[in-house]
Amino acid sequence: MLLIAHRGYSGKAPENTMAAFRMALAAGAKALELDVHQTKDGRLAVLHDWNLKRVAGKRRRVAAMTWSELGAVDVGGWFSSRFHGERVPLLEEVLDLARGRAQVHVELKAGSGKYPGIEERAARILDERGAWNWAMVSSFDHAALKRIRKISPKARIGYLLGPAFFPKAWRETAVLRAESLNISVRQATARSVRSAHERGLKVFVYTVNDAKTLSRMRRLGVDGVYTNFPEMKAA
Ligand code: G3P
Ligand code: CA
Repeated sequence: MLLIAHRGYSGKAPENTMAAFRMALAAGAKALELDVHQTKDGRLAVLHDWNLKRVAGKRRRVAAMTWSELGAVDVGGWFSSRFHGERVPLLEEVLDLARGRAQVHVELKAGSGKYPGIEERAARILDERGAWNWAMVSSFDHAALKRIRKISPKARIGYLLGPAFFPKAWRETAVLRAESLNISVRQATARSVRSAHERGLKVFVYTVNDAKTLSRMRRLGVDGVYTNFPEMKAA
């Protein structure tokens, strides 16, 4: 079972920073997960939230900032003074760090409805790096996944289920030629895992941060878990 470093080694370093990704790789993580938003001037920035309130104490929305504004913000100090000065990475930087060392699960936090052109930009960045062999794109925004599939026949797609219900997910994952069904711990049951596997889908589960749940996921036979502690051992 693959342990995917959720937002990097986010249990020990500020999430979605180069420090967190470097730490995950140094700990031997074979896969990294990250979140993507788009700046006002069309750069793909790696952070989880729509605004900077939680990680920088600022009420500014990513969509309303240019990359030069966003890239100058400290997003490490909130976690510990040791990480003061960590910046929001670009998607390209994390991919270049991970190349040849780990798979990357790229989660688009929204598609073109909110961030015009984000799918084309993400696909181009992945294409330019020949990254589809070691990276995949996921989203709760299934329209974004459809655009990714249309743009790139080579795309590897993870279908984040969210509150959608399973029959719809089975239909959409087939149309998308998705590689995986990405579900929450609560949605991971013997039945859902079996149904996904019967359809040829891998199952990735978020977010598993304790040994007991990790053991349960192993027993269920899931293919991977997103965890803030990629060195964690099952109970
Ligand atoms: O991709 C799985 C997981 O990361 C989705 O939830 O809120 O941590 O992005 P969130
Ligand atoms: Ca995520």
